[in-house]
Amino acid sequence: MARVLVTRQLPPGGLEPLEGHELVQREDDRPFTHDELVDAVAGVDAIVCLLTDHVDAEVIAAGRRLKAIGNVAVGYDNVDVAAAAGAGVAVCNTPGVLDETTADVAFGLILAASRLFGEAERDLRAGRWHGWSINQYLGRDVHGATLGLVGYGRIGRAVARRASGFGMRVLHHTRRPTGEAGHVASLDELLASADVVSLHIPLSEHTLHLIGRRELDLMKPSAVLVNTARGPVVDSDALAEALESGSIFAAGLDVYDDEPHVPPRLLAAPRTMLLPHVGSGSLQTRTAMARMAADGVRAILAGERPPNLITRFG
Ligand code: GLV
Repeated sequence: MARVLVTRQLPPGGLEPLEGHELVQREDDRPFTHDELVDAVAGVDAIVCLLTDHVDAEVIAAGRRLKAIGNVAVGYDNVDVAAAAGAGVAVCNTPGVLDETTADVAFGLILAASRLFGEAERDLRAGRWHGWSINQYLGRDVHGATLGLVGYGRIGRAVARRASGFGMRVLHHTRRPTGEAGHVASLDELLASADVVSLHIPLSEHTLHLIGRRELDLMKPSAVLVNTARGPVVDSDALAEALESGSIFAAGLDVYDDEPHVPPRLLAAPRTMLLPHVGSGSLQTRTAMARMAADGVRAILAGERPPNLITRFG
């Protein structure tokens, strides 16, 4: 029986794969501070953590008996995977189970931002809607528009499937050619030709501020930007400026640089639809994610190779 730290409350049933192990969990759902995490990791064999936990080299070094980290997210920029691998700690994540749910939210943001749902709802709730008028809340059509996907992994492809149902023309940009119809080798070219740009790439040193002032300037003034990936992929100051000046039409965001802080300038920017990181947030999917991370940890502790392993096995 191993000791497994579970840093947050998980959906019911999420930890079933770890039955038989000793679970170390707090009563409340407060995220661990860095110092608390360093302390908590010292006496455990594994952790099941979330994207709110910064599992950096210091945390990993403090885990003297640590063997496994199960990150309940597909993105793992919150875990120092190189430090873990160096310390012989295996890391796994939750790919595959959240693609369709996250694509639903990305497509929801494409619709909501293009058609100004956010602006319209805020006005209605604040009593600023004084009746129908023909020139009110004039958004951009989604059907028939060109969608530019940046990244064409499982989630990007799931968004593409939704887009074809809406009669959109779908382009995608990846650094390596996919050999598939719609591939655009140049990001600049994709940005310049898309009516909607949707981001589906992990956060890494290559993608930090991938969309900055220069890239936003390349987009059409009628274009919409959607980010359901990670906040730092977009320079949020540059985005706020582009929305304020009208150099792009609208933005739909689910992720931010320093969550839960949302830059006040983005909150105040016009034509935005802002969500609090709900991409994978259905009960079924969050439960599946928890189970997948927990099962990955179970497998590592049992000396098996889990399918969702990020680090090398053995
Ligand atoms: C959510 O953002 C995830 O990476 O799973």
